[in-house]
Order: sequence, then C-alpha cells, then structure tokens
Amino acid sequence: MNITLRQLKVFERVARRLSFTRAAEELYLTQPAVSMQIKQFEESVGLPLFERLGKKIFLTRAGEELYRLSRQVSQQLEEAEQLIEELKGTDGGRLVVAVASTVHYFAIRLLADFCKSYPKVRVNFKVTNRKGLLRMLEDNEVDTVLMGQPPEELDLFAEAFMENPLVLIAPADHPRAGQKSIRLEDLQNETFLMREQGSGTRNSVERFFAERGVRILASMEMNTNGAIKQGVEVGLGLGLVSIHTVERELADGRVVVLDVESFPIVRQWYIVHRAGKRLTAAATAFEDFVRSEAQRFVLPFDGSLGSSPAEAVGSGPSS
Ligand code: PGA
Repeated sequence: MNITLRQLKVFERVARRLSFTRAAEELYLTQPAVSMQIKQFEESVGLPLFERLGKKIFLTRAGEELYRLSRQVSQQLEEAEQLIEELKGTDGGRLVVAVASTVHYFAIRLLADFCKSYPKVRVNFKVTNRKGLLRMLEDNEVDTVLMGQPPEELDLFAEAFMENPLVLIAPADHPRAGQKSIRLEDLQNETFLMREQGSGTRNSVERFFAERGVRILASMEMNTNGAIKQGVEVGLGLGLVSIHTVERELADGRVVVLDVESFPIVRQWYIVHRAGKRLTAAATAFEDFVRSEAQRFVLPFDGSLGSSPAEAVGSGPSS
C-alpha cells in the first residue's frame, strides 16, 4: 500500500465529518482536491472506503477500519510534534492560539506584546466565533483558546482571566442617549442588531432577555461585531456587544452606551485548552502572559454606563 500522510489526513477528516464539503472547508482545500485525494487513497488501498446512499456518505467496513487506524496515526504524529515543540521551548517553538471574534480586539495587541518578549515563537492566530472555537478544541487543532465560558460537559481546562461586560450601544443622537436607568420594556419597539447563531455574545443576550421575560420584537442578524458597530452608527438599530469591541467608537463619540436597567451583562473571558493537554513551552508562556497582562490591553470599565472612556488603548483593529 503506497499511501501518503496527506491522503491519510484528508481521509480522516472526511471520515470524521462524513462530508466532503465540510472536510474541504476545514482543511482549506477545494472540494475537487479532497475528492481527488480520496480517489487516489482508495486506489492505493484497493478497496472503496466510502459509499453513497441517497445524499449521505457512509464508511464501508474497510473505511471504518482505516478510520480507526488513521486516528491513532494522527494522534501519534501530534504527540511527536508536541514533543519537538516542547524541546524547542520558547526559542523557536510554535503557538497555535484561537480567540473569539469578540476577543480579537484586545487579543491582537496582547499578542503583539507577547511577540516582543518571545520573538522566536512562531504564531498561528485564528479568529472565529464560539461555535468554531469549540470545534477546534474538540478536534485538538489549537494549543490555547481565549473565549467566553465553555460548556461544562466538554473535558476542558478553563480559567477566568478578565470580565467581559456586554453593553447596549446606540448612535450618539439616539433620543435615549444620556437618559438614566432606561427600562427594558421601553426598548421593546427598537430594532436590535444581533450576532449570528453560534456566537457566545448572542447566546448570553438571548438568555438574558428570556430570563426577564422580555421579547425582542425586531432584530437584524449580523455576523461580525464590525458590521454591528457600523450598523449602529448609521442608525439601523441598537447593538448588543462586548464593551471590548467598541472602545474606539466610544472614545470618538461615534456610538454611546445606553444606561439600561440590569446592564451591563457581565460575563468573563476564559483561557481554555483541552484537559490533560501537554502544553508546549510557548503555549504555557502565552497563557501566563494572558493571566498577568491581559488587563493592560482593555480600558478599565467601572460599570458607569452612558459615559465614554477617556482614551482608547493602543492601536487595535477598528472594525
Ligand atoms: P463571540 O464571543 O462568539 O460572540 O465572538 C465569544 C464567546 O462569548 O465565547
């Protein structure tokens, strides 16, 4: 059998997802490239590994056996890689860090500072929403993740390192800007710009309203914090976002935080990795850096709503 590690990797992903499309997306390949790899793999093996029944694909008996073995091989390769990274220490090691879309506003500044202290560490920095991060953790694709509280049923190490206040933002000329203690009921006729399903911010906001029995009548879905902020600025509606995503817009007076009862919704940011994962020296150094330094990269938030922070921190992303 003349197979390559690349074919094995592609096969494993298709077998895990039982979908050529999803495997292609996750491996950043085109679907024809994935199909070609699988075809060549099947030819080398000499047996079909998948069968198509209706619209779904299934593993054949040979496919199931090879899937079991390919998982062992990838696990051992990962262990070998991990060991080498450990031996390299922070002098040339590799760090794969993934952060929630909402976290990247301060995480990019934090990373810049980390890289000054550890210039030889090679960094792979990924940004996606909560759902994407949980998938990466499940697939053991990352060393460390910065995100909202992960679900308890997953076997993860999670340590809170900073508060994440969610606020309601409005355009500066909104009639309720500057009003004190706005009641939630008074906002029922407003349009809310909401993050997409799968976003941690969205989950918290929905839970918050459901617990208070408040129904949002009109909402518009947007899949980035940047789009929500711009939408608010041009008067499309009110935005529910983490304060850490709007520091610059507040400082520039482009949006204001409304002083609404029970707000902010205070969540926490967590350092997360797979329980039992052998962290590389670079990943350990990064986690320690986050624990001790993260607070420096956000503006202090004392809970006094309706006021704008005096100055923005550093020069982070503005969208
Ligand atoms: P996001 O936030 O998914 O809304 O970007 C991350 C989280 O809360 O886990």
